[in-house]
Amino acid sequence: MAKKPLRVGMIGYGFMGRAHTNAYKQVGQFFPSQHEVVLKAACARNEGEIKKFAAQWGYESVETDWKKLIARPDIDVIDICTPNNLHKEIALAAAAAGKMILCEKPLAMNTAEGKEMVAAVEKAKVANMVWYNYRRIPAVTLAKKLIEEGRLGRVFHYRAKFLQDWTIKADLPQGGQGLWRLDVAAAGSGVSGDLLAHCIDTSIWLNGRLDSVCAMTETFVKERMHNLTGKVEKVGIDDACTFMGRYANGSLANFESTRYARGHKAAYTFEINGENMSIYWDLHDLHRLQIFDYKDEGKIRGWKSIHVTDNSPDHPYMANWWVPGLAIGYDASFTHQVADFIAGLESGTPQGPTFRDALETQAVLDAVLDSAKQQKWVDVAK
Ligand SMILES: NC(=O)c1ccc[n+]([C@@H]2O[C@H](COP(=O)([O-])OP(=O)(O)OC[C@H]3O[C@@H](n4cnc5c(N)ncnc54)[C@H](O)[C@@H]3O)[C@@H](O)[C@H]2O)c1
Repeated sequence: MAKKPLRVGMIGYGFMGRAHTNAYKQVGQFFPSQHEVVLKAACARNEGEIKKFAAQWGYESVETDWKKLIARPDIDVIDICTPNNLHKEIALAAAAAGKMILCEKPLAMNTAEGKEMVAAVEKAKVANMVWYNYRRIPAVTLAKKLIEEGRLGRVFHYRAKFLQDWTIKADLPQGGQGLWRLDVAAAGSGVSGDLLAHCIDTSIWLNGRLDSVCAMTETFVKERMHNLTGKVEKVGIDDACTFMGRYANGSLANFESTRYARGHKAAYTFEINGENMSIYWDLHDLHRLQIFDYKDEGKIRGWKSIHVTDNSPDHPYMANWWVPGLAIGYDASFTHQVADFIAGLESGTPQGPTFRDALETQAVLDAVLDSAKQQKWVDVAK
């Protein structure tokens, strides 16, 4: 039977443009479905660069104006891989044109924008998803399974960190290609929206709603040369953000993120402590899930490290890859996300995180920044 084409129009060809395209190319081989992903068009403002990208990665055509891409009748899904300040405008236009939307995280610059985006996709009834890809690293998905099986018992603590060190140099400029993350006008916020957004999404998925937060932020380098204006300008992003919080299930939250932790590049870790079991995961060792099971027999009780590579259904996604014991990588989380998106289209049950799911993370981010500003506890808006 002929497969149904899923014709992708991707906007942006940077880090995520490459990660997503790699996933589109892999998904049909490793997760066959009734759909066939077609790399229809890639879009960016620089014609020479986007043509080079399209030729290298196998896109059929290019556009230099995302509005033209959205207007094309031969595109089914718009993939938003641009800096955060463009997510809303592109998503609203894509929804109005009846396109499905895959949007990079964070969903928006803030909750108000996010709400408009949710309203737009729900009004247009278009399939939508946000690329919080860490949910689909097999060890993280296994953690979800263990929690759903009730193995942890009552949960007391959830703590997460996401540490980097690439903005320590005070003469690093802000803004423009490659450095938009330091420019508040393009990014909306600093490490909170960029890094903690991932930690918050995973935590809500694993441990439920965050009710209230108390945060502090710091901007260590207060002024940087702006690449777009050529002038030294105030830095508006948070360089570091730490917060504590309370979950609806009564457990306590402890989160930290910074780009000033010398020696750390992408040190995302989380730990959950329940009455019967603790779980620990580390992105630098992404295939392992560390667990301590209090129900183990006393004399052999201790932390164990599960190498999540078995091809039985016990280890999520792994049956579609290699033989047991062999690892897959960071890139596969994106392949899993596309596979699940397609599975959602075929089953009629949308797979998360949808725009609506991602709005919850946005509300936590707003509360975190508000709390840091006011120097007091803030309830997360419902
Ligand atoms: N899921 C994840 O783990 C993850 C990781 C990194 C980035 N992100 C998110 O992905 C998005 C992009 O980040 P990135 O690291 O790929 O950035 P990047 O700087 O590598 O790429 C951004 C791309 O957007 C393009 N662009 C900018 N303005 C445009 C416009 N007006 N029209 C068309 N194209 C335009 C640029 O040319 C560039 O190709 C951000 O929202 C970021 O938060 C998510």
